[in-house]
Amino acid sequence: MREYDYIIIGSGIAGLYDALLAQELGSVLIITKGSIHECNTRHAQGGIAAAIGSLDSPELHFEDTIAAGAGLCDPEAVRILTREAADRIADLVKFGVPFDTVDGEIALAREAAHSVPRILHAGGDATGERIEVTLSNAARSSSRITILEYCLAIEILVLEDGVYGVAALDLHSGSIERFGCRFVILATGGVGRLFKITTNPEIATGDGIALAYKAGAEIVDMEFVQFHPTALRLPGVPLFLISEAVRGEGGILRNAEGERFMLNYSPDGDLAPRDIVARSIVAEMERTETDRVYLDVTHLPASIVSARFPQIYRFCFDHGLDITSSMIPVVPAAHYVMGGVRTNYWGETNIAGLFASGEVSCTGVHGANRLASNSLLEVLVFSKRIVDRSREEVNAATTAEREASALPERAVDSGNCPSLDLIALESLLWENVGIVRSADRLREAANILAVWEEELRRPTDRPSYELANMVLVGRLLAEAALAREESRGAHFRSDSPEPSDAWLRHIVFRKKD
Ligand code: FAD
Ligand code: SIN
Repeated sequence: MREYDYIIIGSGIAGLYDALLAQELGSVLIITKGSIHECNTRHAQGGIAAAIGSLDSPELHFEDTIAAGAGLCDPEAVRILTREAADRIADLVKFGVPFDTVDGEIALAREAAHSVPRILHAGGDATGERIEVTLSNAARSSSRITILEYCLAIEILVLEDGVYGVAALDLHSGSIERFGCRFVILATGGVGRLFKITTNPEIATGDGIALAYKAGAEIVDMEFVQFHPTALRLPGVPLFLISEAVRGEGGILRNAEGERFMLNYSPDGDLAPRDIVARSIVAEMERTETDRVYLDVTHLPASIVSARFPQIYRFCFDHGLDITSSMIPVVPAAHYVMGGVRTNYWGETNIAGLFASGEVSCTGVHGANRLASNSLLEVLVFSKRIVDRSREEVNAATTAEREASALPERAVDSGNCPSLDLIALESLLWENVGIVRSADRLREAANILAVWEEELRRPTDRPSYELANMVLVGRLLAEAALAREESRGAHFRSDSPEPSDAWLRHIVFRKKD
């Protein structure tokens, strides 16, 4: 078995940033299932939230984050996030991330539910790409970081006293290799590909959550999936995010009749929180019997639109849409999972030596709804803490035991069950576990997923491993959403449309011993 101090699974901002910090302390192996560049991070547009402006403060950022989280944020985690933000941004600047500036100062943009302009961006709307390129270049040039591309992690190796390695499938040779280590950092990103309509690229299949669950880690808050209100909907064109920053700069949502509608749903209008805007769009599409609404920037100066949003402008233009003169057809799409592998304030899971970083983790900062652009910041703040923590002797006793239950047993009846493939899974999750949920649809989804789980054959290649992971993660999601009999943040139940104080708690799953 090849041995390393750290094995990091994933090469998005979390994996790369962890690796660059960890190399100071030991040898690092990054395992990533595609090329190093394949990740959600590369697609991030809006930017990174941090209270660095003269009108801003960590306290104000704290308040906005807590308000967005709808009662379920961990206040201490949010305090850490907002207090440590400025230092971590300074670190990123030292790594060479070229944030946009105005008159020599970092430029700050506005996004929904932030009370002041607070979003740092790079290359206009190319923030993720600039970060990913900067960090991957740095990782590639380090002699202490080994990078294995096209290598799929398939198991976290665990003994009684904690983690000792990772098993991975070499996607070129088809062989399975086991790597040994002191620490595993899961940085595998999100779950968007479970849904038919998503802003996420193909890698977002929830692998890390499935691997962690199977290894005995706690999985929390899975019912909270954020649906972004505005993904481009053009026939025959891949789904593409239209950043919230576009509404921050004055973009207006209009229905199929050209009417501005958001003020009918929220006093915050087009800059209402994401969940409210996404549900309002669904309601407006139903009311007008159409499958899209429109984002209008034609009233803004064309030169500002193309300079501030060069990627969006170019992508639409290349597909025949000039957004400076025509409205942009948009729909809501699955975007970000607030839940994931439960960690403490140091990124530790309940398994000694296993850390989780980035979207795969649940640190408690997002609660029931993530404030826009807080996720890239969360990665920076908690990655640093993970590596700091790994300087110390880590053992299982350092993570507190918490209440968790196994996934409920379901009587498996394959009678009317559709057969399993990727399209059936994505459609089931979108229809039954999507923006508007109800007990009947959730129960149906949970039953079907349980049947599929039973029927799964032993995986042999990347698609079959990913499908198996998606079935398990889909079940975690459907069961959590079924259990939470209220509406809160991004989780909306048409049969229980109000929040209930009885549900000011988390749903945590852990596999039976
Ligand atoms: P990712 O960047 O997704 O990286 C995950 C990595 O893990 C990938 O390299 C993947 O190949 C690898 N991997 C997965 N499974 C395996 C496996 N089994 N074996 C090996 N490797 C594996 N957030 C913001 O804060 N601001 C924004 O402006 C913003 N814009 C966004 C725009 C879009 C279109 C999207 C999709 C998301 C956006 N987000 C934004 C969210 C944010 O980009 C992500 O939450 C963040 O980039 C996640 O980083 P990560 O490193 O955790 O995961
Ligand atoms: C966006 O640019 O709208 C995405 C921002 C985010 O998801 O935080």
